[in-house]
Amino acid sequence: MQRLQDLKETFFGLEVVQQQLLISSAVAIGGILAYWVFRSKEAKTIPIGHGWWGKGKKPLSEDDQIHTFTITTSDEEIKDLHARLDLTRYTDPLEDSHFNFGFNSTYLKRVVSHWRNVYDWKKQVAALNQYPHFKTKIEGLDVHFIRVCPPSRENQKVVPLMLVHGWPGSFYEFYKIIPLLTQNHDGVAFEVICPSIPGYGYSEAPQKKGFDSVAAARIFLTLMERLGFSQFYLHGGDWGSAITTNMAQMKPDCVKGLHLTMFFPRRNFKMSLSLVIGRYLPFLVGFTREDVRRIYPYFQKNVWQMLEETGYMHIQATKPDTAGCAVNNSPVGLAAYILEKFSSWTDMKYRDLSDGGLERMFTLDDLLTNVMIYWTTSSMTSSMRFYKENFGNLINRLDFKTGVFVPTGLAAFPNELMHNPKVWAQTKYRNIYSYTFMPRGGHFPAFEEPQLLADDIVQFVKKVGKI
Ligand SMILES: *[C@@H]1O[C@H](CO)[C@@H](O)[C@H](O)[C@H]1NC(C)=O
Repeated sequence: MQRLQDLKETFFGLEVVQQQLLISSAVAIGGILAYWVFRSKEAKTIPIGHGWWGKGKKPLSEDDQIHTFTITTSDEEIKDLHARLDLTRYTDPLEDSHFNFGFNSTYLKRVVSHWRNVYDWKKQVAALNQYPHFKTKIEGLDVHFIRVCPPSRENQKVVPLMLVHGWPGSFYEFYKIIPLLTQNHDGVAFEVICPSIPGYGYSEAPQKKGFDSVAAARIFLTLMERLGFSQFYLHGGDWGSAITTNMAQMKPDCVKGLHLTMFFPRRNFKMSLSLVIGRYLPFLVGFTREDVRRIYPYFQKNVWQMLEETGYMHIQATKPDTAGCAVNNSPVGLAAYILEKFSSWTDMKYRDLSDGGLERMFTLDDLLTNVMIYWTTSSMTSSMRFYKENFGNLINRLDFKTGVFVPTGLAAFPNELMHNPKVWAQTKYRNIYSYTFMPRGGHFPAFEEPQLLADDIVQFVKKVGKI
């Protein structure tokens, strides 16, 4: 009898365990369900927020007029530059080091001799002024931009398009692509708006901490609104890609399409797994043959090369003001710092050429004009700070966790710093209309291959707009 009682208690005990199990399962399933519901309701936008970046306290009202702006120079400015160029001290490069230790200073002397004796800044300023420049105050900062309308024509649809540059570039990167975009493409032509990121070139630098890509995005949205555009397309690479992505996340209704040349996925476990499997069974993880060609050998192309090439990023993301002192005070130091990127980011193999291959893709005049935009505005340090502001808060950034739902066009150039297959891009860009393996070109496609880039933007916009 006693045994029976024991058994009963055991069974009863089991029942309790069963019940507890049931409850915990219900809680777990409920949790998973809630997670899925939460996931499917994942924010599709990021808050627009607000900011003010001028000196001191925010005034009660601010001038919101748009003012025309003309780039100017003077004999003193050029005399000062020449004096500094003449005072430069060079360190001879190591034998056969080419561009592997950084800018070859023997070749640098040739660049500087061109700068000092042939390059004509006054002529370049006139060329810069060929497009109409403007400035307008937003969030306490004078924001510079150019705005180029297409020649008027009957039966032509004019599509507004903003182009955003990155570091160490400028609005000047787009000078060769602008005429290609404002020209008529079977009834479509772009009206191009091309701003300078605050702290870069002719846009005023923030005076307060915290100015990141989200803040820049909000300012550029305000700019488009002020210009009277309620719907427009965006294009960007480098920081321009981060900024335009943020713009699409803030006001998806205004952004008809987003076209990027550099894009970052949201890293997840599936991605790491696909990296391991993809080399052997690419079809299983959605890689194309071209993806495989561009990704592998992964360690050499991505991990090792990243370590070799991103020292600048670490400095700028930690102590920009210290290194900024040097490059902002020596035009030759500034040129070496900027132009080294125009060598290796065009093609990593150029590191093995004694002249960095710089003149294969660009003219010295074009390269030096981009340097002069930083030099004459004294903006290198403030441009470098953008790294610290963006990398300072990597874990908590909402924009990193939020998808992008506007129609997106991705142009994957073969010499871009890192290749991201479409399946990876889809982890963040949820509405990819076009993904193009570009036949040639690197990190500065508008500067290197304006025609290829223009063609890709045109086909993307026609696809999205059904024109
Ligand atoms: C540096 O460039 C010059 C001119 O292009 C070249 O003659 C020289 O061999 C190069 N030096 C190194 C160390 O690569």
